[in-house]
Amino acid sequence: MPKLNENYLNVQDSYLFAEIARRVRTYEEKHPDKAASVIRLGIGDVTRPLTAGAVASLHEAVEMQADPETFKGYGPEQGYAFARNAVAEYYGRNGVKVDPDDVFISDGAKSDTGNITELFSKDNVILVPDPVYPVYVDTNTMDGKQIAYMNGTEKNDFLPMPDNSVKADIIYLCSPNNPTGACYNREQLQVWVDYALENEAVILFDSAYEAFVSQPELPRSIYEAEGAEKCAIEFCSLSKTAGFTGTRFSYTVVPKELVFTASNGQIMSLRDMWNRRQSTKFNGTPYIIQYAAAAVLSEEGMKECMENISYYMENARMIAETLRRKGISFTGGVNSPYIWFKCPNGMESWEFFDYLLENAQVVGTPGAGFGVNGKNYFRLTSFGTHENTKKAMERFEKLL
Ligand code: MLT
Repeated sequence: MPKLNENYLNVQDSYLFAEIARRVRTYEEKHPDKAASVIRLGIGDVTRPLTAGAVASLHEAVEMQADPETFKGYGPEQGYAFARNAVAEYYGRNGVKVDPDDVFISDGAKSDTGNITELFSKDNVILVPDPVYPVYVDTNTMDGKQIAYMNGTEKNDFLPMPDNSVKADIIYLCSPNNPTGACYNREQLQVWVDYALENEAVILFDSAYEAFVSQPELPRSIYEAEGAEKCAIEFCSLSKTAGFTGTRFSYTVVPKELVFTASNGQIMSLRDMWNRRQSTKFNGTPYIIQYAAAAVLSEEGMKECMENISYYMENARMIAETLRRKGISFTGGVNSPYIWFKCPNGMESWEFFDYLLENAQVVGTPGAGFGVNGKNYFRLTSFGTHENTKKAMERFEKLL
């Protein structure tokens, strides 16, 4: 009999968004007359199609794959040089210097933030904000690793800072934060980087929502903080920036400065370890996708993406207005596509989820899915269509 990884006994039966989908399916089966009117503002999945530039590049790349002269088989596991350069240039236009050699192309920030745990042993102190994207907690739990939580609450604007109560080895940060939409400022990020440098810790920085930062004084990359290349890995993705949730392209920056001493005194480079991991377990993002992603990351490509982002931010504005009119305080929606608010009438988040689904046929995400501090909170996404967001807000306003 195989001995199983019993750490799986310590995670919930299903992943948050799978559980939401299951509950919505059950509701629709029970109420077939209402199924058509269900509006999904739960998982942050985009509704705008790919930009014209992305589509044209995809077609072009398909043609190349049809021609023996330009056909490509296996590509470099780290990503093609043109894609890594496009990422570095994108950073450069935002004032951040990144070496293309430190860029690893992948198929999702979800995969990479989950897989990166393999580089670290079990006896680390891992600090994770609560609430936050559930993948960090689930993947470390599956690995049997111990997690220490740092509270994100209204008191600290959902932006926990180091408090020296634990000496962390690995710190997850997500800014703009999923689910709260809160975004660290430069000074706060510098405090985190200084803390990591002082404690020889590594920051795993998820910047998947950086393109939504609208206040120019706010940082979009951990590498805007001095010394971050010596202590931080950054994960980013085109899922939300360019509507690639179904197309799949992400990038992870592991600077060559990230080196630590092994127990036998040998120097180990996280970049080299990640390179070893990826070349062994990953065969790369498809050429066609990398080709389109490089076009998307160009100045012209990004202009098109920003039109879609503005579209979504108009939805965020609609949601925010409704909450304001209802006197419900919230965070997010300015530098993030997510809006996070306290459930009305003292309800708990799964209770409010059912209430909203049953009475308004609107699906959101219960805050409890992001950590215990989310127990009484709820997240709505602005990734719907204008029409559906407007309809959902009308129903919301009527109900509450
Ligand atoms: C979310 O809704 O939090 C995200 O869409 C999930 C993800 O990016 O994997």
